[in-house]
Amino acid sequence: MVKPTENYHADFAKNPVIEEIETDILLIGGGMASCGAAVEVGRWAKGKYRVTLVDKAALDRSGAVAQGLSAINTYLGDNTPEDYVKMVANDLMGITRDDLVYDIGRHVDSSVKLFEEWGLPIWKQKGDEGKSLRDGGKPVRSGKWQIMIHGESYKPIVAEAAKNALGIDNIIERCFIVKLLLDEKDENRIAGAVGFSVRENKIYIFRCKVMLLAAGGAVNIFRPRSTGEGMGRTWYAVWNAGSTYSMLSQVGAELTTMENRFVPARFKDGYGPVGAWFLLFKSKAVNGLGEDYSAKNKDLLAQYPPYGLAPVPATCLRNHQMMKELREGRGPIFMDTPTAMKELAKNMDKREIKALESEAWEDFLDMTIGQANLWAGMNIRPEETRSELLPTEPYFLGSHAGACGAWVSGPEDLSPEGWSWGYNRMTTVQGLFTAGDGVGASGHKFSSGSFTEGRIAAKAMVKFVRDHIDFTPTITTSKEELAAEIYKPFQNYLDHSEYSTDPSVNPNYIKPKMMMFRLNKLMDEYVGGTSTYYNTSEPMMDEGLKLLLMLKEDSEKMAAKDLHELLRAWENYHRIWMAETHLRHVYFRKETRYPGFYYRSDYPELDEENWKVFVNSRFDPATGEWEMKKIPHIDLIEK
Ligand code: FAD
Ligand code: ADX
Repeated sequence: MVKPTENYHADFAKNPVIEEIETDILLIGGGMASCGAAVEVGRWAKGKYRVTLVDKAALDRSGAVAQGLSAINTYLGDNTPEDYVKMVANDLMGITRDDLVYDIGRHVDSSVKLFEEWGLPIWKQKGDEGKSLRDGGKPVRSGKWQIMIHGESYKPIVAEAAKNALGIDNIIERCFIVKLLLDEKDENRIAGAVGFSVRENKIYIFRCKVMLLAAGGAVNIFRPRSTGEGMGRTWYAVWNAGSTYSMLSQVGAELTTMENRFVPARFKDGYGPVGAWFLLFKSKAVNGLGEDYSAKNKDLLAQYPPYGLAPVPATCLRNHQMMKELREGRGPIFMDTPTAMKELAKNMDKREIKALESEAWEDFLDMTIGQANLWAGMNIRPEETRSELLPTEPYFLGSHAGACGAWVSGPEDLSPEGWSWGYNRMTTVQGLFTAGDGVGASGHKFSSGSFTEGRIAAKAMVKFVRDHIDFTPTITTSKEELAAEIYKPFQNYLDHSEYSTDPSVNPNYIKPKMMMFRLNKLMDEYVGGTSTYYNTSEPMMDEGLKLLLMLKEDSEKMAAKDLHELLRAWENYHRIWMAETHLRHVYFRKETRYPGFYYRSDYPELDEENWKVFVNSRFDPATGEWEMKKIPHIDLIEK
């Protein structure tokens, strides 16, 4: 982290306005989890407590749902929460918190019914058109857990509900939160946060009694496959830069399962999702020889527990099957869309076939418009042309088919001893909560589950405020000092930019883009990115950590010429911290728990005897030391 010194002064960037805001409940992030929290807080706290929501972007189109979605991936319907717990455990190779997962399972459908009431069109089965879920309307399921939606406007619909619940005056958009502040009198207690406007010359200092940090997952830690003009395209939302994990960790919150990452198999170059193709259109993917590689490599899976707990093999294992083909030279992999569409069209009339073709396009137009553009640009008609698939670079998230995040307090009625400390979804720092991508060891929440988890956390947060109403946060660092720290990349630029003829090349500083490239390269080469086919090992990580710590030192010299670059600089500080956390976790877990997401070439087997445990880490803000530990795994649902 950048440390302010006496030499920094706040007037270098034309005297930023410093706005100090006192609030009771601070919600950071404006995505699915925070919107869920806003709706619930509105219900329990309106008129009683001050609430402020702050988002780095604009609520209507922020976070991973910004472009919309074509399915809600978690809707239980006739399934039981027990079954849901088993599916999640199966997908995440057995390392999940049953208490947290069950809690989502038992509440998630109520959120989906709210979405429909707010105007989200949910596909219904023939005969049930126009009948709401609440009135017993049967949704069109693409899979056991997923339901189809016309979801281009999913996020604006949810954001509108959040805005109505809080009141527009309590929402601050385009403010990037840089770091959290601990209380100076009460150890291990959250007191506030600081950030800056990405539009104006303005710095924000928040003081609060309780906080939700739900700023999504992390992207662009590893070198993306996209290069040149495609650079910037990734599967995961580019605007989530690991802020949740880094800021939680920096104030001492315990993290869990940070070794886990998500490597989605996606339509090549456009990063279009595959779920609808596999599940709704019943398409198969084949290798370069035309073989159905998942059928061919079925035996590869049986050795991995808890294989068979759910009918669908784990996401990482499906990748594992695909990677074997690619590694052994039987690529490329194709999604065989023409065969799938021919099969479906067999009993259809012309009108129905046209509708099917438009559904194929809508899947991407609803959530990954770039993939539809790519199809158009490449003259691809899915009914005629196959499309290539490829595993992407790794991403970090706790709500999709990934599970990194904070170690949080669970629901009192379900959690085993020691896993619940009074307030549901509170981290190990008093008053600091998280949800969605922020909560570890409970993936497969998706959009609906993240929103639901925000609601669950919010209810507990209101209780926390009520129980601690007399708490007054103590922050003695001066506002000028905080501002100087935030604007330091400006200072670096102003101090040195005239030294060279091209201000983007300078021996005294490094621009954020170059810093990101450097981080991407080292993570890719040493910590299991695409260039080593997701392989890493202790000697590789020893080297990687050495380079990463050197990069961390150099990062103090990042320079920003404008607000845009200042944002990029701070995103990088968060990314760098995230990268270090991931590396430390992968290093500690001496086995290959997630084949297909990453491989430890020095420990290629999955080791149930020694590693059927959670790996937790804690950075101590007082000493600067990291502590890594194993936490025994407890199954609450028999598996
Ligand atoms: P997000 O919704 O991503 O919200 C994060 C918020 O934090 C954003 O508002 C962001 O602007 C803000 N933020 C970030 N950093 C800062 C900072 N430093 N300061 C202030 N604010 C900050 N789910 C489904 O149900 N169905 C699907 O089909 C589906 N498809 C998906 C496709 C993609 C490409 C992705 C990435 C996800 C998909 N999901 C899907 C999952 C779903 O989008 C996520 O589970 C959900 O959005 C997670 O919610 P969240 O609130 O944790 O994060
Ligand atoms: S999306 O979130 O970007 O749309 P994706 O298309 O992978 O993700 O997944 C959507 C849903 O389909 C998820 O619930 C995922 O687990 C499921 N899914 C994806 N591929 C398969 C598959 N081959 N078999 C079974 N389920 C799958």
